[in-house]
Amino acid sequence: MNNQDAMKQQAAEAALTYAEGGVIGVGTGSTVNHFIDALARIKGRIEGAVSSSEASTKRLEGHGIRVFDLNAVGELSLYVDGADEANHALQLIKGGGGALTREKIVAAASRQFVCIADQSKLVDVLGAFPLPVEVIPMARSHVARQLVKLGGTPVWREGVITDNGNLILDVQNLDLIDPVTLEQAINNIAGVVTVGIFALRPADLLILGTADGPKTLH
Ligand code: 5RP
Repeated sequence: MNNQDAMKQQAAEAALTYAEGGVIGVGTGSTVNHFIDALARIKGRIEGAVSSSEASTKRLEGHGIRVFDLNAVGELSLYVDGADEANHALQLIKGGGGALTREKIVAAASRQFVCIADQSKLVDVLGAFPLPVEVIPMARSHVARQLVKLGGTPVWREGVITDNGNLILDVQNLDLIDPVTLEQAINNIAGVVTVGIFALRPADLLILGTADGPKTLH
């Protein structure tokens, strides 16, 4: 395990204390994979999970953790997920793994969103990481043209189909100094399913794995 992966695992282990019972929302990615593996050790404490991707569902079920449809459960008390970038206001860029739509839905349906990441994910201003945007296939070129008008340089993530049957555009060169306004602007483009800015609903807590142990930001 390299240093970065060890820090991801450290953040994931620290998030376990928030899993106090009921059904837990579970995100997607390598940091969340550590969380799922840790969750397996205390699975008797929870009823099960709502998953944000087919990949996480497979891993949860592989550990014998029951996976519920979000429609079958009420509001969730906790959602744990990773991020590609986080700023000090706990606004995030997500979707590097292509699961942003279900991640945004589960985050919206949860009272507390605990984000887990290694320290490299914390930035002053979001936007060095190319912003993922999930789009309806027939709208790909239209959405790309609108993103260019916003100052972005969209690149089609070729060969990738999301769990919802859609496409991903990764957008560079956008100005993310005001993440809420840009999230709303991109949400308003016809054909956009989800933009990977999580600013209207940021994380409530960010647990960072660092060389000095886990650090929690509120
Ligand atoms: C997937 C995500 C992930 O949370 C994000 O890509 C971080 O991944 P990792 O934990 O592997 O660094 O948004 O869509």
